[in-house]
Amino acid sequence: MTPDEIKRDLKTRWLGREKIACFHVVESTNSEAKRLGKKGAPEGTLVVADAQKKGRGRHGRFWESPAGTGLYLSFIMRRRCPPQDFPRMTLAVGVAVASAIEAAGARPQLKWPNDVLIAGRKVAGILTEAVFNKTRTDFAVVGVGVNVNTPSEAFPPNLRDVAGSLRMSLGRPVSRVHFLQTLLCRLEQWCELSAEEGFEKIREGWRQFDTTLGKVVEVVLPNKRFSGVAEALERDGALMVRDTNGEPIRVVAGDVVYCHLGKGSYGEA
Ligand code: BTN
Repeated sequence: MTPDEIKRDLKTRWLGREKIACFHVVESTNSEAKRLGKKGAPEGTLVVADAQKKGRGRHGRFWESPAGTGLYLSFIMRRRCPPQDFPRMTLAVGVAVASAIEAAGARPQLKWPNDVLIAGRKVAGILTEAVFNKTRTDFAVVGVGVNVNTPSEAFPPNLRDVAGSLRMSLGRPVSRVHFLQTLLCRLEQWCELSAEEGFEKIREGWRQFDTTLGKVVEVVLPNKRFSGVAEALERDGALMVRDTNGEPIRVVAGDVVYCHLGKGSYGEA
């Protein structure tokens, strides 16, 4: 993919408008966007790679990024994403990715906070990182990975039962450039909504694709796990889980595992 190809027919106003950096291979597009951001790259600067050697996932995990089949992108947000808006912005990005996948003809689901699944298999993930300047947030990098045409064999054996791709679910290949252009439009719309409207709009959007609320879940935190029922998405983006003692617990960061699914479904402990 080249910047010219991406810009042709691109209908965004600020995302990918000023600067697009395309690479065959990078360590991580998030790292590359941070590097550009520290040199002053403007809001909406976009980094896209055909492959990543050290794609990063949430909680220090690795993001499989085989060459030429998936989309690996990061963009810079400055004024539209102050630190207090981070959780809300992350949910908004999940809604944007899900709606782009829906526009491609598939039926995406969102697992809190923002894993994007199709038929229980993870097809996309989001990693938002802040870059601090002495005491305040200087800018945010939003990283999105989507398994667009990734075949099952491209995933390592331990992920083959839990990871999916758009191609696998639609039964046909999807143009990565075309999907990227749609995705960028949706990202821009939902990031603006998040910055300019109250949380209710984001929560409505998220609920359209939600697959977490009402489920019996196990919450995995760095130093403990507990089970309960996912009851509500709070105004700040936290998940309210009622534990087995009937206590409501706010989960701000962490992973959610569905308890009712059989082995092999995404999110299995
Ligand atoms: C997750 O679900 O754990 C988040 C995965 C985020 C992966 C994307 S791929 C593009 C960007 N660059 C990275 O190193 N990570 C994100």
